[in-house]
Amino acid sequence: MTASRPPAKFYAPLAIGAPTPYREVPVRLERMIHFVPPQNDKLRGRVAEMCKQVDVILGNLEDAIPADQKEAARAGFVKMARENDFGSTGLWSRINCLNSPWGLDDILTIVPAAGTKLDVVMLPKVEGPWDIHYLDQLLAQLEAKHGITKPILIHAILETAEGVKNVDAIAAASPRMHGMSLGPADLAASRGMKTTRVGGGHPSYGVLADAKGDTPRTLFQQDLWHYTVAKMVDACQAYGIKAFYGPFGDFSDPAACEAQFRNAFLMGCVGAWSLHPTQVEIAKAVFSPDAVEVAFAKRILAAMPDGTGAVMIDGKMQDDATWKQAKVIVDLAKLVATKDPARAATYGF
Ligand code: GLV
Ligand code: MG
Repeated sequence: MTASRPPAKFYAPLAIGAPTPYREVPVRLERMIHFVPPQNDKLRGRVAEMCKQVDVILGNLEDAIPADQKEAARAGFVKMARENDFGSTGLWSRINCLNSPWGLDDILTIVPAAGTKLDVVMLPKVEGPWDIHYLDQLLAQLEAKHGITKPILIHAILETAEGVKNVDAIAAASPRMHGMSLGPADLAASRGMKTTRVGGGHPSYGVLADAKGDTPRTLFQQDLWHYTVAKMVDACQAYGIKAFYGPFGDFSDPAACEAQFRNAFLMGCVGAWSLHPTQVEIAKAVFSPDAVEVAFAKRILAAMPDGTGAVMIDGKMQDDATWKQAKVIVDLAKLVATKDPARAATYGF
């Protein structure tokens, strides 16, 4: 078991001259993390336009980038960071994992060249807090050396059996932790799950209704990812960081993508990855609260100004706990309204 830093030192910078870590994850709208292959000149040329559509742009250096294009992807990311003004849109990079031949050079290239614009480093295949501690220390040294004054955050991908086992310790590893995403493809492989899909359900994973004479029996499909998403959300919320569903690989099935994203949203996730432009709109629709829910939540807050007691609204009991539920929804709607004027109007802000 790795010992953690003493409470008094937990928020101290890990290198002399590095910025002081945040005490809380900065409030930002991150409904989708939009993946871009930075070595692709054509797609890179669209980044300025994309910034208006998406909440986060991520330059992907890891899986899906062929080995012979890893260096071009790195260089493309630096160009992309330098050539664009990202405004309120987040700039992230998914680096290669720490035991790969590329991870170290990814960090040593992109942080000095683009560190002042880089909000979050996404670290794949995190197995335990030791991976976070390594990156935490290295980022602090680079921030100090290159005069980076805003802390670069770390987002872990939960995609190995060992990572899931250690999820609480990963969430608690550093004040630099931004959050976590489920990586269903690598996780399926790591666990020996028998699916070739990237996220989503499986037609054979279900519960069979009881036999009743000759009546045909229905198989009710279950969510393969329920356990892991729930475990991830609890770990993240307990440590004040954010949980995300990851990729949905079947671009030809937007309905299934929407269902998977919605399960994650309802369970506490704040966003998902978009790997295709069609998934941006799906993520916006799912991870922005529903206008009818927002209207009802506003009524709960108005009926209980100090958040205590019990009232009935439309025959439904409200108390201190439902007031907190309502506040989650209204706070999110206010955040969405800052970036999404069409939705702001439907929320009445
Ligand atoms: C994402 O990286 C995954 O493995 O699903
Ligand atoms: Mg993966």
